[in-house]
Amino acid sequence: MGIIQLQNVSKQYGDKIILRDLNLDIDTGSFVAISGESGAGKSTLLNIIGGLEQPTSGRIIIDGKNVAELNAKERVNFYRHTVGIIFQGSYLQPQLTLLENITLPGIFAGINKKERTAKAEQLAITLGIDEQLKSLPKKVSGGQAGRACIARALLLDPKIILADEPTSNLDETNARVVLDVLNKIRRQFGVTVIVASHDKTVFEFTTEVITIINGAAQTEQR
Ligand SMILES: Nc1ncnc2c1ncn2[C@@H]1O[C@H](COP(=O)(O)OP(=O)(O)O)[C@@H](O)[C@H]1O
Ligand SMILES: [Mg+2]
Repeated sequence: MGIIQLQNVSKQYGDKIILRDLNLDIDTGSFVAISGESGAGKSTLLNIIGGLEQPTSGRIIIDGKNVAELNAKERVNFYRHTVGIIFQGSYLQPQLTLLENITLPGIFAGINKKERTAKAEQLAITLGIDEQLKSLPKKVSGGQAGRACIARALLLDPKIILADEPTSNLDETNARVVLDVLNKIRRQFGVTVIVASHDKTVFEFTTEVITIINGAAQTEQR
């Protein structure tokens, strides 16, 4: 049994069916691409896995936990420590340094300053942005900003990283930098990485591709 299971998951907006009776079992430590045309439902699926949207029906089990059984408080805590999210067009707060941006989730989770700073510095070294920690986002390259978003998502040691179109604002070189880093942290920490993307470069890195067509998912192991 993998880290994420979707059982008979459907999603509708009004009477429009976006996802139709999906059954997925995602292996721990895999690098998964969710692909499909624009509007196919990639972001919707990613958001359902990340707890940002509710399915219309079906069951979601993450790290052995049926997430529907969590109360509101448990839910916030569970997702905060289990899933790190890199949002579409992931924005760093422009008025904060990279270090301040990366440590932000630690503030919300009540981690003390010394501990969250130490964790951010350690991640920055792993991701090769330790020299940029004192810089504001506008002073660093797109690839470095992308890595800072990854560091921020990793701050609370999640088991799963979700990224929506993480390469969409990057040229191919910086796209590869970001994907290399995601792959590196996957191998180093055993994190499961799920990327929604239609960028061909992504497929060079993935162990599994889930393609959404007409609301159904086709899975291809690679
Ligand atoms: N909050 C919403 N309300 C109504 N329709 C939505 C909402 N979010 C997404 N959709 C629709 O669901 C479909 C899938 O969207 P999305 O998951 O964003 O696709 P993708 O990420 O593959 O481009 C689209 O037709 C979109 O217009
Ligand atoms: Mg999308």
